[in-house]
Amino acid sequence: MQTPLTMDDRLFSRWQEMLEERIGISIPDERRSFLVTSLGQRMSEVGCRSYEQYMQMLQDGPLGAVEWELLVDHLTVHETRFYRDGAALRLLEEQFFRFLGRDDESRANVDIWSVGCATGEEPYSLAIALDDYLLAQGLENYFSVTATDISRASLATARQGIYHRNRLRNLPVKLLRRYFLPYDLDHYRLSKTIRDRVCFTLMNLIDAGDAALGKMDIIFCQNVLIYFKRERRLEIANSLVEHLRPGGLLILGAGELVNWRHERLVQIPDEDVVAFRRLPEEGTA
Ligand SMILES: C[S@@+](CC[C@H](N)C(=O)[O-])C[C@H]1O[C@@H](n2cnc3c(N)ncnc32)[C@H](O)[C@@H]1O
Repeated sequence: MQTPLTMDDRLFSRWQEMLEERIGISIPDERRSFLVTSLGQRMSEVGCRSYEQYMQMLQDGPLGAVEWELLVDHLTVHETRFYRDGAALRLLEEQFFRFLGRDDESRANVDIWSVGCATGEEPYSLAIALDDYLLAQGLENYFSVTATDISRASLATARQGIYHRNRLRNLPVKLLRRYFLPYDLDHYRLSKTIRDRVCFTLMNLIDAGDAALGKMDIIFCQNVLIYFKRERRLEIANSLVEHLRPGGLLILGAGELVNWRHERLVQIPDEDVVAFRRLPEEGTA
């Protein structure tokens, strides 16, 4: 086994800055060994012998861009599971009626955004919860979930819709039976009805402000901003608000942004969920 190359403070700062600038991820000093191991793995796979040579390679045209994506996949945390935050899904169902029965034809669809969707468990959970809710109410409204992430590999897994049973442990059995079919001994495949509701797209959150996503009714952002510095978190949260329609709902993970307020948002009182509603535009009801 190769001994990992040493990384001095100057070099570590350069990598920290590059990652912060390009993907927003902050690698604190105590995670230097994680960075060294991750870089070491990729470097030995591509035959690079120094950090400088590898950094150069990352900036080198289309091949550099491909290598960059693979590295980002190594450096980002993709931990997730179905029904990870049951309380947030409960709040979503409680609030969902507000988006139904709108008389404006062009707004008949409810648009939902799952930010930092990893391998798909979160956006599919949203789709399952809402489909179940609509069935229970005897309603036929349409909704669609746009799910974005920076990891191309995670999105490819998500699109397949095949999951190990461990990822499904939190899912109520009735929903597992209704929306999944056994795929092999350990895996289940999600029904096409739910897969068709979710559209996966590659997106760097740093560019969220300029993203051509249009306006959303519901934005779900959990366990993503925690990897960014506070200043960057605020920037991203502000651009999420810009993507929210008046009356729209923003649901954050508990630790995403502590003590955050926004002039266009009002917090929804809830003991277990951090959620906000966007105020109507001035001059409207
Ligand atoms: C821990 S997962 C959270 C998954 C899901 N939201 C949940 O709560 O279960 C964090 C995800 O954020 C994504 N991510 C990290 N930095 C990103 C960036 N700059 N742009 C878009 N996605 C990013 C990672 O690729 C990863 O899939």
